[in-house]
Order: sequence, then structure tokens, then C-alpha cells
Amino acid sequence: MMIHCPAGVRLQNYLLSLDIHILTACGGRGNCGKCAVRITEGHAAVNTMDRMWFTEEQLANGMRLGCQVYAKEPLTVELPDAAKEPAVTVLL
Ligand code: FES
Repeated sequence: MMIHCPAGVRLQNYLLSLDIHILTACGGRGNCGKCAVRITEGHAAVNTMDRMWFTEEQLANGMRLGCQVYAKEPLTVELPDAAKEPAVTVLL
């Protein structure tokens, strides 16, 4: 799944606004690596947590921790196949 993320938003929050959920086992602290995405267009800064999870080659290919991406410019982002709307619906 590819999405276009506008500038000025945190990627994880933008995905949630679209009701798209990526795995965030550590709650977005950068500790689990489950939220991996690939930036295919635009630049997303590499931070210390990205460097813990990805090789230099992976970083050069746009791999980032989705929970750590703040879009300073419009981004095109490839999401893992597991990213989807919630599988569970809570009925009240
Ligand atoms: S949610 Fe755990 S590293 Fe991003």
C-alpha cells in the first residue's frame, strides 16, 4: 500500500487519521522496529532510532521507523502489507 503524506504532520498520526494502522508494539518509542515503512519520494530525516534498526543500505533505500517520521515535505510512503484498517470492531 502506498500513501501520500502531506508536509507538516507526524506520519503515524496522519495514518491514524486515515484509519490506517501499522504495527506499533512499543507505542511509538522506536524500540520495537515493527513500524518499518519505506519512503519512496521526498526526504525523511534519519534519526538515532532508525540507525539502530536499519543498515546504511536500507536507510539509503528509504527505510524508516514509521513512528519516528515527521514529514517536513510531502512524502510518498510504502506501507507494509500488514498495514490496514483495524481487524476488530468494538460494538458499544
Ligand atoms: S512503534 Fe516501535 S519502533 Fe516504531
